[in-house]
Amino acid sequence: MHIGIIGAGNVGGTLAKRLAESGHEIAIANSRGPQTLQDLVGELGHRSHAVSASEAARFGDLVIVSVPFGRYDELPTKELKGKPVMDTGNYYPERDGHYPELDEDKTTSSEMVQQHLKGAHVVKAFNTLHAENMRDHARQSSAQERYGIPMSGDDPQAKRAIADLVEELGFQPVDAGDLATGGRKQQPGSITYEADFTADELVEALRQGS
Ligand SMILES: NC(=O)c1ccc[n+]([C@@H]2O[C@H](COP(=O)([O-])OP(=O)(O)OC[C@H]3O[C@@H](n4cnc5c(N)ncnc54)[C@H](OP(=O)(O)O)[C@@H]3O)[C@@H](O)[C@H]2O)c1
Repeated sequence: MHIGIIGAGNVGGTLAKRLAESGHEIAIANSRGPQTLQDLVGELGHRSHAVSASEAARFGDLVIVSVPFGRYDELPTKELKGKPVMDTGNYYPERDGHYPELDEDKTTSSEMVQQHLKGAHVVKAFNTLHAENMRDHARQSSAQERYGIPMSGDDPQAKRAIADLVEELGFQPVDAGDLATGGRKQQPGSITYEADFTADELVEALRQGS
């Protein structure tokens, strides 16, 4: 699959390596420009290339957005229309600056990303798990226990596409609901955040958290 990745840090870089190993074609971007990503694309191999954020958005049949939340309004919009977009982002006011609508719990960070990316289909996923665990704790579906990954989104088809990717990456996707309800159950401070639950534990935690 053609996968665009916007954000090449801990999460974007880790997922890029895992996806390139699985044979996907990757176009990856950061904010400083493709010339700063040559070492990373060297590691990813010949099917991957460094591009601008707009080019990554255009390239991907599915696009992963993994930038500090405070930069979300820099994301390209028209190139993402109609596409499934996985948002790994979290709101940390000390890093991102204060957003009163989030501080007052009037909305969630991924709803704000969705609002910005009108016409794209945002699914919040892989935001609760540390990047090192994404790298080191993938397990096949036959394994007795796998980490569960909560996923929230408003578009069922996009959710299925992201769930397939989560599965392929070696984790168990667990539907947490729509961006408003599920998004709150997987944001920093929630019961699932950095909890490293197995899929069964995650299902139970999401049920209790409802
Ligand atoms: N670290 C974790 O374990 C973890 C786990 C789950 C979720 N998260 C969340 O996932 C997001 C990414 O975290 P991270 O730890 O990977 O961050 P990070 O290591 O700081 O990397 C952020 C990446 O985003 C890029 N970026 C920033 N603004 C951009 C823009 N406008 N266009 C394109 N690229 C842009 C940066 O590029 P430049 O360096 O060129 O500016 C950098 O490559 C955050 O919201 C974080 O809270 C993190």
